[in-house]
Amino acid sequence: FNMKSTNTRQNSRESDYEEALKRAEEAVQAGAARAAQDPFRLRYHLMAPSGWMNDPNGLIHFKGEYHAFYQHFPFGDYQGPMYWGHAVSRDLVRWEHRPVALAPTEPYEFGSPEGGCGCWSGSAVEHEGKLVLFYTAHVDGRTPEEVQAMATSEDGIRFVKHPVPVIQGNPDGECFGFRDPKVWEHEGRWYMVIGSGKNSRGRALLYESANLVDWSYRGVAAESDGTQGDMWECPDLFPLGGKYVLIVSPMNMDGVKNLYMIGEMDFAAGRFIPESSGIIDDGPDFYAAQTMRDGNGRRILIAWMDMWGSRLINTGRAWYGAMTLARELQLTEDGRLASRPVKELASLRGQEISKLDNGLRLQPGEEQVWLLPPAFEWQADIDLSATEAQELRIVIGGACEDLSYAESVKTSRSVTDQRTKIRWLAAQRRIELDRNEAGIGDPGVYVSDLPASSAARLSLRIFSDNSSVELFVNDGDRVLTSRIYPLASGRRLELEAVGGTIVFEAIRLWNMDGLEVKQ
Ligand code: FRU
Repeated sequence: FNMKSTNTRQNSRESDYEEALKRAEEAVQAGAARAAQDPFRLRYHLMAPSGWMNDPNGLIHFKGEYHAFYQHFPFGDYQGPMYWGHAVSRDLVRWEHRPVALAPTEPYEFGSPEGGCGCWSGSAVEHEGKLVLFYTAHVDGRTPEEVQAMATSEDGIRFVKHPVPVIQGNPDGECFGFRDPKVWEHEGRWYMVIGSGKNSRGRALLYESANLVDWSYRGVAAESDGTQGDMWECPDLFPLGGKYVLIVSPMNMDGVKNLYMIGEMDFAAGRFIPESSGIIDDGPDFYAAQTMRDGNGRRILIAWMDMWGSRLINTGRAWYGAMTLARELQLTEDGRLASRPVKELASLRGQEISKLDNGLRLQPGEEQVWLLPPAFEWQADIDLSATEAQELRIVIGGACEDLSYAESVKTSRSVTDQRTKIRWLAAQRRIELDRNEAGIGDPGVYVSDLPASSAARLSLRIFSDNSSVELFVNDGDRVLTSRIYPLASGRRLELEAVGGTIVFEAIRLWNMDGLEVKQ
């Protein structure tokens, strides 16, 4: 055994790692100017400076700052070997970029440059003043190899990988996936859930540790009831309002892309016992959600605001992928999971464009139209007792001024008049979001059935950005999140009442275009 050569090997491993991070960071910076010019680039959502982004990873409130890491390919606007990008924020709405945090350099992290591999999704905890990351090291193959790895940082910026993976192989025999570790602390012990699937049922596997390095397998904490997908990506299990909540991103579940379960956690038995379940967000672009607890005891959620398999509209634009706005999770009185937009979002409001404090009585046939920049927030409270309409139609439209540009992106759909249509259907107690004519992205109509409580109260809040719409109903009792790709530099917001009067108690509208994004 030769100590000297071991040290040399260790040093060269470290310098390879430093080199890989440096190359990644240079690539990100090199693409940033081009990405910044893209008209679909968002104004007030978290994106990578350039390159590909998917899942939020390692969300944590650490030493007074929120950290959001994310799945990242710095060398192109497509999914390649995965790195971890990194951004920090003091208020969950203004993000600052930090250097790429993890690069795939170990044999168990790196396959062929084209193949799926790298530092896949995971989570973060704080331990003894350090920020500790857990992630899946993935290498594609006939059966992909997935192990759970760890990296530690003193300052939250530069990470040192643990020399070997902390969980080597899956304990479950033949299974569909073994990834996305989410770690948390409970009564002085560490727990981890890992996403998997077996016999066509998604699963969350449970591990336990006293020191974050040695993990013992506790068994299957939760499993699909047979209708909830065959693999659960990105499981997250956390306490909320006296209960435990499990959220997962199910694969192959009939169009359903995200799921929550509310129940009890039996730590002695290592099992989560679900009592009810539902969908977190009814829109098409909400996946791989992850949560963190912050210093105020809030449970904050951020998700990837895109979806696997959706049309890669951004290809050739030097960037792809964005995060949803941060949302605070709460249990409602009737036992469901609500996602409220975090209160800090109000600090993004710029000029108030319109304020109808005394409300508005909108009659059928009457027009209410505002001309707006793409980044705005609209908020309306409807007096249901005085409203007779069967339907409220909201259109976020836009006209394409540059037809040669429209021509160049080659779309069969009409781009001269684009409209994202939102409909509230009173009798059905339902909201629909229709993006069939929204621009050059994927079409589709998405439906949200509102809870019984919406019979007494209806408030709508829309956050519009250059290529996204997030609609919160009754302060996040229901949410619909969608990317849209209109070829228009402005927006036209129209309201229409169908079948009777709609009485708005108040309508407020703000420009959200003022944010300076620090790169
Ligand atoms: C979810 C996911 C995870 C995986 C990561 C890879 O979107 O498929 O299961 O760890 O993305 O980038």
